[in-house]
Amino acid sequence: MKPLIVANWKMNPQTLQEAKELFDGVSEGIKDTKNIEVVICPPFPFIFNLKSNNLNLKLGSQDCFWAESGAYTGEVSSKMLKDLGCQYVILGHSERRRVLGETGEDISKKVQAVLKEKMIPILCIDKVSQLDNVWQKGTIVAFEPLFAIGTGSSCDKADAKKMLMEIKNKIGKKEQILYGGSIDSKNALGYIKEAGFDGLLIGGASLVCEEFIKIVKNI
Ligand code: PGA
Repeated sequence: MKPLIVANWKMNPQTLQEAKELFDGVSEGIKDTKNIEVVICPPFPFIFNLKSNNLNLKLGSQDCFWAESGAYTGEVSSKMLKDLGCQYVILGHSERRRVLGETGEDISKKVQAVLKEKMIPILCIDKVSQLDNVWQKGTIVAFEPLFAIGTGSSCDKADAKKMLMEIKNKIGKKEQILYGGSIDSKNALGYIKEAGFDGLLIGGASLVCEEFIKIVKNI
């Protein structure tokens, strides 16, 4: 299985021009990398304008709504995302759970909506119990301990490895599990080589073109 590196841009950058520069910069910088899959998840308004001509670089989204269509002001459906070329959708990020009050039930419905469109959900959890009634075959899990998100203090690798084992014991040894939380070019490789994760979900460092390229190239 190729390592999967996912960039979660969150609500950044602020203009399409900057988004294009970052996207194209990453695309150019990783064009010669092999045996690795990179996914960029920009904010919704930029997705339409970002096209990858690099087979290693895919598009994803940071969320989607669970209903197929209808009277849901402000929401975006999985079909819309699929139509714009998204192949992955991050779901259940802790910022959505905490700031926007997303529940396990909401996230479960979103997982189903994404799978229905044959895209791959990336389900973020910080506890194994968050998999209950939500995880389904075909879903990638991202373990993101709350204390490590955006803080600069990533999770101890031995502790992360323990969680990885617990998750694999629950859903299956062959399932793809990512680590996320304060990844940078210095610590990235350790989560894959030492802790055994199948990839990374990267926030802050994915907004710095050179740093993100360095992470991808080091793996
Ligand atoms: P961070 O964010 O890399 O900035 O810690 C990770 C995430 O929230 O997915």
